[in-house]
Amino acid sequence: MSLRGIGIVLVLFVLGIAFSGFAAYSADTFQHKEEKAIDAEKLVAQNCASCHGKDLKGTETAPNLHEKGQKLSAETIAQIITDGVAPNMPPYAGGNLKDHAEISAVAQYITNLDK
Ligand code: HEC
Repeated sequence: MSLRGIGIVLVLFVLGIAFSGFAAYSADTFQHKEEKAIDAEKLVAQNCASCHGKDLKGTETAPNLHEKGQKLSAETIAQIITDGVAPNMPPYAGGNLKDHAEISAVAQYITNLDK
């Protein structure tokens, strides 16, 4: 192979490494963003406020979540959200919360309402 040929191969090789490194890096940062993107405040506003009140201080039908957040642990609240409360509170807020990560973020948020 000529010196020039080797040069070209080398350049391509280095570019290949640089690109794969970049691809791995951007995939990594993207995933990271996805993980951190849970906006508990928004999820609560969208999924709990309709029954528990805009300020979450309860309505005629559903109890005050500020009080519940002081009395119950985040684990207990997460379990309540997962199971629902028959017959008036649907599990997973009616399927709008998609996984345990969202549920525990919401539960944590409820326990921190008055802190
Ligand atoms: C469709 C209406 C509705 C929605 C939506 C709803 N709840 Fe409820 N929730 C209720 C009702 C009604 C009760 C009271 C049930 C009972 O005591 O029989 C309740 C009870 C609770 C309790 C107390 C349970 C206990 O054993 O003390 C917690 C905590 C709670 N809800 C949290 C949430 C959270 C967090 C969300 C949003 C992810 C949510 N709820 C969404 C209607 C709802």
